[in-house]
Amino acid sequence: MSDQFKKTIVSLLAAKTNLSEDEIDKYIEIPPDPKMGDYAFPCFSLSKMLKKPPAKIASELADLLHPVSPINKIEATGPYLNLFLDKAIFSAVVLKKIVNEGDTYGCDTIGKGKTVVIDYSSPNIAKHLAVHHLRSALIGNALYNIYGNLGYKCIGINHLGDWGTQFGQLIVAYRKWGEKDLEQHTITDLNKLYVTFHREAEKDNHLEDEAREWFKKLEAGDAEAMELWERFKDISLKEFQRIYKMLGIHFDAFVGESFYNTMVEDTVSGIKKKGLACISEQALIVNLEAYNMPPCLLRKKDGTTLYATRDIAAAEYRKSVYDFEKMIYVVGSEQKLHFCQIFKVLELMGYDWASQCVHVDFGLMKFKEGKMSTRKGRVILLEDLLIEAVDRIKRIIEEKNPLLKDKEMVARDVGIGAVIFADLSTKRNKDVIFDWDTVLNFEGETGPYVQYTHARLCSILRKYGKDVTTDIDYPLLNEDDAIHLIKNLWQYPFVVLKAAQFYEPSLVSNYLIDICAGVNKFYNAHRVLSEDEGLTKARILLVDAARQIIKNGLKILGMQAPVEM
Ligand code: ARG
Repeated sequence: MSDQFKKTIVSLLAAKTNLSEDEIDKYIEIPPDPKMGDYAFPCFSLSKMLKKPPAKIASELADLLHPVSPINKIEATGPYLNLFLDKAIFSAVVLKKIVNEGDTYGCDTIGKGKTVVIDYSSPNIAKHLAVHHLRSALIGNALYNIYGNLGYKCIGINHLGDWGTQFGQLIVAYRKWGEKDLEQHTITDLNKLYVTFHREAEKDNHLEDEAREWFKKLEAGDAEAMELWERFKDISLKEFQRIYKMLGIHFDAFVGESFYNTMVEDTVSGIKKKGLACISEQALIVNLEAYNMPPCLLRKKDGTTLYATRDIAAAEYRKSVYDFEKMIYVVGSEQKLHFCQIFKVLELMGYDWASQCVHVDFGLMKFKEGKMSTRKGRVILLEDLLIEAVDRIKRIIEEKNPLLKDKEMVARDVGIGAVIFADLSTKRNKDVIFDWDTVLNFEGETGPYVQYTHARLCSILRKYGKDVTTDIDYPLLNEDDAIHLIKNLWQYPFVVLKAAQFYEPSLVSNYLIDICAGVNKFYNAHRVLSEDEGLTKARILLVDAARQIIKNGLKILGMQAPVEM
C-alpha cells in the first residue's frame, strides 16, 4: 500500500538527488500547516553529503524541479522543500477511490499468504472474567481485524487458564464444601469455594497438600478429578461465551493450557537434550542469569508442570500447526517478565522464529471510585459493567430521541461501543480511567460521539435521497475545511498500517475522532443541502466518503455503526 501522491514526489526527487527512493520516502513529511505545502522534504539529510547548508539545497532543488501533475507548485522555505498538489485532482482521486472501494477501502494484500496467531483474553476458568481479560479481548480483537484488513490470515486463540494447582484446590473445596449439584453452580459459586479453601487452608495446612495431590491426580488423568474439572470448565465457558457474544468478540479456537499436557513431556525433554535445563532446589529450571533474568521454572519439585512450560509447548505446537509469520500475545504488562523468559528459552532452544513472537502489553483499567454500582460488593463484574452501559445509553436515547426505531438494538450497540472505544482510544500501555460521564458523553472523544456522527451523516444522505455520484465539479470543494478533511480521509489506509506496525488500535480510534471533528466542522460551516444542485452534489460526496471511513474504522475496532440514533 502506498500513497500515490507521495510516490510521484519521491520519484521526482530521486531523479535529482543521490538519495534512493526508500530514503526519500522516509524523509517526506506532511506539514502541519497546509500553507507549507501538502508534502515537504527536509533537506538536512542531504546537507552533510553535499557539504552545503540545507536552506541552500532546498532553494537549488526548487529551481531544478519542475512541477508535474498532480503537483502544481514547488517552493523552498528555509531548509524545507515544500510541494503543493492540485487540489481538484487530489480530491477527485481520493473521493472516487473511497466511494468506489466502499467497505473494502483501506484493505490491503501485504499480508497475503501469511498467518498471524493472536492469543487474547485467555481468562482463567472458575474465576470471573477480569477487567484485564476485557482489555486483552478488545485489543486482541482489534488487532485481529487490523491484520485481517491487511490480508493476513489471523488465528484468534483463547489460551484458557484451565490447568494448574488451583484446580486441585477447587476439587478439594468442592468435595468438602460444595453444596448444590454441580450443574447448578455459577462462577460466583466456584469463586466462593476458592475463598473457603484459602480461609480454611490458613487453619489447616494439610489442605494444601491435599490440593497438590488432587492436581497430581488430574495431571495423571484420574477419572473423578477429570470429571469435576470438565464441569468447572463448562460452567466457566458458558459465562465467558455470554460476555464475548455481548462484546461481539470471536475466537477461532478455545485451546486452554490443559491441551498441551500431552506435549509438555516432549518440550521438557527437548530443553534437557539441548543442555539448557538444570535442577535447582529440586525443581527443573532454565537458568537465565546470563540474560539478567530469574530462572524459568519448568517443573516443580512434585513433578507438576507450570504456566511457562505450557506456554513453551504451546508456542512449539502453534508454530508447527500454523507456521505463523508472527505470534502476538495480548497480555497485561505484569507478565512482561514471563514473556521475556519464554521468548528467551525458545531462542536458546534454537528456534529462529522466537523473534517473531511479540508480547503486546497494556496498562490497567481503573474505575473512578464510587461511581460504579456493583452487584457483589467491591469487585466489578464485567457483565454488570456492560449491562449498565447499555442501560445508561437507553436512558439517554429515551431523552434525546424517544421515537427512534430499534431503540433496544441501538442502545446495545452504543452502550457496548462506548466501553470498547473508551478502552481502545487509550494508548495501550497507559491505564484506562473509566468514568461513566466521560465514556458516555455524546460530545466528548467517545464511542457515542463517533457513532452519533456516523448516524448524522447517514441522516443527511437520507434527506438527500438521491444516489451519490463521483461525477461532480471537484474545484467546488475548495474550502480549507473540505480540503483538510479530504487530506485526512486519504490517510486512513496508512493509519491502519501503522496501527498494525505498532500493535496500537488507539491510532485508529484517535484518527476517527479527528475525522468526526473535521466533518462536523465542515457541515456546521457550510450548508450541505442547498438550492445549488452542483454544490450539493459535491458536498454530499464528501459527506458520503467521511461516512464510509467512519464505518470502516468502527468495524476495525469491533464496533457497530448505527445509521440512526
Ligand atoms: N490466563 C492468563 C491470565 O489470566 C493469561 C494467559 C495469556 N496467554 C498466554 N499464552 N500466556 O493471566
